[in-house]
Amino acid sequence: MTTLTTAPVAPLLDLLFAVDKEAHPASDPEVAAYWNGLTAPERSALMQSRTDYADFYARLKNLPLAVSRETGNLLYMLARSTRASAIVEFGTSFGLSTLCLASALRDNGGGHLITSEFEASKVARARQHLTDGGLADLVEFREGDALETLARDLPASVDLLLLDGAKGLYLDILALVEPHLRTGALIIADNADHCPPYLEKVRGGNGYLSLPFSDEVELSIYLG
Ligand SMILES: C[S@@+](CC[C@H](N)C(=O)[O-])C[C@H]1O[C@@H](n2cnc3c(N)ncnc32)[C@H](O)[C@@H]1O
Repeated sequence: MTTLTTAPVAPLLDLLFAVDKEAHPASDPEVAAYWNGLTAPERSALMQSRTDYADFYARLKNLPLAVSRETGNLLYMLARSTRASAIVEFGTSFGLSTLCLASALRDNGGGHLITSEFEASKVARARQHLTDGGLADLVEFREGDALETLARDLPASVDLLLLDGAKGLYLDILALVEPHLRTGALIIADNADHCPPYLEKVRGGNGYLSLPFSDEVELSIYLG
């Protein structure tokens, strides 16, 4: 049986991805007004910021901002094919990527997924979605800034890291998790083009091999 493609997870993801499609930033008048009031350089600076992310994501707290359905499938495929049992996720939101990754853990025979999110209402929603998907037993929710919550108590050996929180922090979060990455661990970074220092690090050797897998995803392997 494939957890990702059967009930209860498959219909739940159908519903949540459909909601995500409708709930883009322009659909929220307050967010749209805020975003439209910024110049292109201001938007770019905000996306890359290592200091203003809390205010920015607080404004977006009612939006799922999920990975694409294709990326969700890719996460499942990568976690399954590497037989991952220890996964760390930066950026839970409503838990769509978490559902895909936890489905892979279930089909791998079990494991542990640590996911991080600082918006309390999002943690509550994601927790409910994981419960609805029958996967809550595999997931540890760490509520708070991931710079703090992922700075402690990580598994000795992490098989897969998903970076999908504030883009400007990708390098900082990688630095926290790197001592725990097993040789051969995969790092999937969504929209990493907003974090040039991260791309410089993983593409420039430094113990990684990396490629832009799609428009959205930078896929890297940790070589130890
Ligand atoms: C793009 S969304 C994640 C989408 C999710 N991975 C999915 O596919 O369903 C990014 C999320 O990261 C959260 N976030 C951003 N920076 C964070 C930080 N420093 N610590 C914890 N959560 C953070 C935001 O509140 C937002 O919900």
